[in-house]
Amino acid sequence: MAGELTFDPGRHPRPSVVDTPATRAVAADAEIKRLSQDEILSRIRDLKRKRGAVILSHNYEVGPIQDIADFVGDSLQLSQQAAATDAPLIVFCGVHFMAETAKILSPQKTVLIPDTMAGCSLADTVTPEQVRKWRAEHPDHVIVAYVNTSAAVKAEVDYCCTSSNAAQVIRAVPAGKEILFLPDFFLGLWLRSETGRKIHLWMGECHVHAGIRPEDVRARMDEHPDAHLLLHPECGCVSQCLTALADGDLPKDRTHVVSTGGMVKHARTCTAKTDLIGTEVGMIHRLRKENPRKEYVPLRADAICEYMKTITVPKLYRSLRDMVYEVRVEEPILSRARRAIDRMMENA
Ligand code: 13P
Ligand code: SF4
Repeated sequence: MAGELTFDPGRHPRPSVVDTPATRAVAADAEIKRLSQDEILSRIRDLKRKRGAVILSHNYEVGPIQDIADFVGDSLQLSQQAAATDAPLIVFCGVHFMAETAKILSPQKTVLIPDTMAGCSLADTVTPEQVRKWRAEHPDHVIVAYVNTSAAVKAEVDYCCTSSNAAQVIRAVPAGKEILFLPDFFLGLWLRSETGRKIHLWMGECHVHAGIRPEDVRARMDEHPDAHLLLHPECGCVSQCLTALADGDLPKDRTHVVSTGGMVKHARTCTAKTDLIGTEVGMIHRLRKENPRKEYVPLRADAICEYMKTITVPKLYRSLRDMVYEVRVEEPILSRARRAIDRMMENA
């Protein structure tokens, strides 16, 4: 395992996923070119009815995608929706590992993603070969993988979790067992402090969240001293914030480490005027819809996931019209990944 002290957060260059095959196909599409956005939205509604489709959107998607979706949520909620829906067709407006998880939970359904290049920098930090090697080095340990991993990686692990049930899943691992947690280093650090378990960490990070630093927290807290601070556990500032909390430098009653679904729950009930949002900025659209009276200030306005933003309204229309791009997970990966995902669902 690589040494923790050599870790250099925020080192990833920003990915370029603008010129994708789906982007080029939409740009060259004669019908799409002559339709207004409202006309495209109306055709999406018609096609959705005709095909009996359900549109699922992650909280980071652009506003118009969230607005036309049947359900908007975090990774765990989207998995639950995918498992529960009667619809024969799921159009997944999120990133590829989420659509794969939906397919694994509902293999008899058709799952489409409007752009196959909607990847995840965090999921890309670990391969199945690396997991097999890590296991061989620690044969007695239990491997817990964050849902932000490919299906092939999930097939190699014992448990899967999302940010909203990660601590519960870690607690479900038999006491006395050491844990290998992958791929998010910052989420793993937070889990160590939450659960007190012996957890070895993979050195992965999300380029968006790793870039949210303690100096961003300090600057926004200075500007909004009465605000609540909402941090996604993938943030690069999480461990320093935990230290600041223990030292009394951050307010205990106004600091929350939560999933994107946890942020929505908070917005519904918290009466404070301002929330500082430590995650991807698409979240702000969702939060404003939940509670428009509140002010939401991103810790960083450039915390943008380019992968989530590859999904656009014209691509969603093309996806439903042409039935592209079908997400496939082949056996034996599907059944092996399902074991770890079932454990994630049992601890929801
Ligand atoms: P949530 O499960 O909290 O929505 O997080 C997903 C994700 O990709 C965070 O970057
Ligand atoms: Fe992956 Fe980060 Fe985008 Fe979430 S925000 S999907 S972890 S790249």
